Amino acid sequence: MKITVEQIPEQELKPKFQDASQLGFGRIFTDRMFTMRYINNAWTEPKIEKYKKFNLDPSACVFHYSQEIFEGMKAYAAEDGRILLFRPEQNVRRMNKSAERLVMPTIPEEDMLQAITELVLAEKEWLPRAAGTSLYIRPTMIATEAFLGVHPSTEYTFFIILSPVGAYYKEGFKPVKLYVEDTFVRAAVGGVGDIKTGGNYAASLMAGYRAQQKGFSQVLWLDAKERKYVEEVGAMNMFFVFGNKLVTPALTGSILPGITRASVLELAKYLGLEAEERAISIDEVIEGISSGSITEAFGSGTAAVISPVGSLTYKEKEYVINGNQVGNVTQQLYDTLVNIQYGRQADPFGWVREI
Ligand code: PLP
Ligand code: COI
Repeated sequence: MKITVEQIPEQELKPKFQDASQLGFGRIFTDRMFTMRYINNAWTEPKIEKYKKFNLDPSACVFHYSQEIFEGMKAYAAEDGRILLFRPEQNVRRMNKSAERLVMPTIPEEDMLQAITELVLAEKEWLPRAAGTSLYIRPTMIATEAFLGVHPSTEYTFFIILSPVGAYYKEGFKPVKLYVEDTFVRAAVGGVGDIKTGGNYAASLMAGYRAQQKGFSQVLWLDAKERKYVEEVGAMNMFFVFGNKLVTPALTGSILPGITRASVLELAKYLGLEAEERAISIDEVIEGISSGSITEAFGSGTAAVISPVGSLTYKEKEYVINGNQVGNVTQQLYDTLVNIQYGRQADPFGWVREI
């Protein structure tokens, strides 16, 4: 694919962030974005252009029926100057899976990877280098046809924006408190919970908002049918540690198949831990925390990395895990994962891709 690159006059470039340790998540965007349009059954006009507002018809399908999908991935600055992506082909594949589910056009894998790579290289001055920071990459596709009938759009825009980021949670790498939601649900089997579409996040806002009002970081979702089995957290998959065994909810169709989740499962085996994917009920979790058989819990995600979970609150009662401290297993998995992502340690899995 031939990508057109628009030149931006020096004086129009934005001032860069001052202190990379204060970045937070997702508020600052770089100078350029990638865009490509789908019209007449073909992707056209791939370009890297100045980051700017869209000009869309108010009747565009995306505004009315949420035909939208996205991905989340990161570029990491290695100490020796290399720029590294982590399993980018997995994000590209998941983006196309999301596209198929919402009857949107797919993009050839090598074209999407090329667009990501060229944009990140064009914006490499924006790659933060402070500990725990990275350049977050947000590929997105929206339905742009101007028509109010409910049908798959005939026109789309695919774009990629970049945001220099630090920790997703204000706590950083400190245990977060989760609220176990037993009224609202995020997604049901047969729905779209296993793809990355904005509607899943819209559906989660009310529960998340109420939990935040009460001082929780996020909600832990239960299954839609019985409110009995643990599913996932708003922006991460969930792991429970029973001594040297990890248990994570099996992929039932309503939770997102996280790329960090899949990596943690492989890393666990590599580090000599057992790892199990199965149904785990909230009753088993509460019993496990109370009896001490659950020794640690953490979430996994691109933005969240590995986030220790310090307590679960279920039916108005708080259950503290590992004295609200980061446990050894969580710490070891975190260290190994980020060392691989930042190129500080050999990558025995072939996950890291230098661009
Ligand atoms: N679950 C949800 C709902 C998410 O939004 C995310 C973030 O992408 C994850 C899990 C973790 O997925 P991944 O590890 O691929 O980032
Ligand atoms: C990610 O981890 O990349 C996500 O997409 C989570 C997002 C909701 C911040």
